[in-house]
Amino acid sequence: MMLGRKKKEGRRRPIGRRHRAFLPPGGRDRGQMKETVMKVLHIDHIGIAAKEMDSTLRFFTERLGMKATGSETIEEQAVRVAFLPLGEGELEILESTKPDGPVAKFIESRGEGIQHIALRVDDLEAALEELKQKGVRLIDEKPRIGAGGARIAFIHPKETHGVLLELCER
Ligand code: CO
Repeated sequence: MMLGRKKKEGRRRPIGRRHRAFLPPGGRDRGQMKETVMKVLHIDHIGIAAKEMDSTLRFFTERLGMKATGSETIEEQAVRVAFLPLGEGELEILESTKPDGPVAKFIESRGEGIQHIALRVDDLEAALEELKQKGVRLIDEKPRIGAGGARIAFIHPKETHGVLLELCER
């Protein structure tokens, strides 16, 4: 142990030399925190934007033999979500409930397909705080409730090289 320094918690690991090279010049501008404490556990779900729910679900259930375990509508996002569990995660089929909802707009510009990927974290609030301190732009600075009652927050796609990335805690 170094003189006069408190022993670090076991889960904290200093950022490696290799990765330090990728920090922006004057990395301090991007926040003081250089360590990664947050834990990404596994893929929680993959959100798939569909023009039409029933025919999309039929492909996964009838052709692939997956099970659909129900659906719910999230009014504030103008989306109906159906769940297809798969291992520790699931596929979520997203159908817009309004012609100008976010999912409808996504399909209009990018077509049907994968709309976002959600990563399960152990502590969403702490993860968001950590990302903010690292200067990572977030769409949601605080957790909100998403499909299936999960606590969710989106990272800005400019940070994630075009992937719309959701963090999720259940
Ligand atoms: Co999601």
